[in-house]
Amino acid sequence: MYKKILLTGVNGQVGHALQAVFLKDHALSATVVGLDRNQLDLTDAGAIRSAVQTIQPDLIINPAAYTAVDKAESEPDLTYAVNAIAPQVLAEEAAKTGARLIHFSTEYVYAGTKTGVYVEDDVTQPLSVYGKSKLAGEEAIRSVGLQHLIFRTSWVYGAYGKNFMKTILRLAAERDELRIVADQLGAPTSSLSIAHAVLAVIAGWQNQTGTYHMVNAGQTSWHGFAKAIVEEYIRLKLVPPLKVNLQNIHAITTQEYPTPAVRPANSCLDCNRLARDFSVTLPDWREALATELLQLT
Ligand SMILES: NC(=O)c1ccc[n+]([C@@H]2O[C@H](COP(=O)([O-])OP(=O)(O)OC[C@H]3O[C@@H](n4cnc5c(N)ncnc54)[C@H](OP(=O)(O)O)[C@@H]3O)[C@@H](O)[C@H]2O)c1
Repeated sequence: MYKKILLTGVNGQVGHALQAVFLKDHALSATVVGLDRNQLDLTDAGAIRSAVQTIQPDLIINPAAYTAVDKAESEPDLTYAVNAIAPQVLAEEAAKTGARLIHFSTEYVYAGTKTGVYVEDDVTQPLSVYGKSKLAGEEAIRSVGLQHLIFRTSWVYGAYGKNFMKTILRLAAERDELRIVADQLGAPTSSLSIAHAVLAVIAGWQNQTGTYHMVNAGQTSWHGFAKAIVEEYIRLKLVPPLKVNLQNIHAITTQEYPTPAVRPANSCLDCNRLARDFSVTLPDWREALATELLQLT
């Protein structure tokens, strides 16, 4: 098993969940060195190299990323530095020290025009700077040729961090009505579900290498997700009470909610490869939503 795990981005949703799950897992004998942006700035290649050489991990997990999808359109250099160059440097240093690498990517590498769910070998055609930078990060890791796992996930949210669930709860407490896009489909994926899945993957990781989809089961629209958030919040009798009524959460089109970055209409990912190679499946998105809501303090 692993002796030392280097974990980046511990103040992010997935990084935070991974650190929490690792700390609670007594079967994991590894020392986890979790670094936030202040401790390791991924735009500084020299700092990445010296961190890996000093820490000498046998596993590197990199959930850190530039994730501000709309802002990325006007900050391509910074986006590429974090999402493409840093993963390459991490991969190069991992290869030098003999460490394995786990990296995260996104369904934004696809155009979202497919009918039906995407499989890992489908053609990639990112529509945004963010999606292009994440694809470049994947390609950089593959080009280094070390043993790695890249997990493409989607619509990440959780009790910790900034995300759609938290935004909807804030707006639902302030407003009588909400208008939410209903013509983009995907799988809301809880950061805790990802962390538990990664823990299970690590335990069973032998010779597998490559790219895997990792999302909660099922699918919905952003509108369906928003309604489910409010519905579950009420069902779980959480406080403070919300102002909005379910019937006042209205469906709108993408055209009615223009954003700087173009998003895929179909974000649905097939996870059979993960199930086949690791016997790992993530719970249904609605079940995961209830779990995350119960973590709110
Ligand atoms: N969020 C989603 O909906 C979504 C969907 C699909 C795929 N993904 C992918 O899943 C992974 C995890 O995403 P997430 O939701 O956990 O993201 P997140 O909550 O936005 O966290 C990203 C973390 O990266 C850190 N970071 C940004 N720039 C950095 C830099 N220069 N140096 C070091 N750290 C830096 C951030 O630091 P600060 O805390 O200091 O800002 C933050 O802690 C990422 O690879 C992302 O691309 C996310």
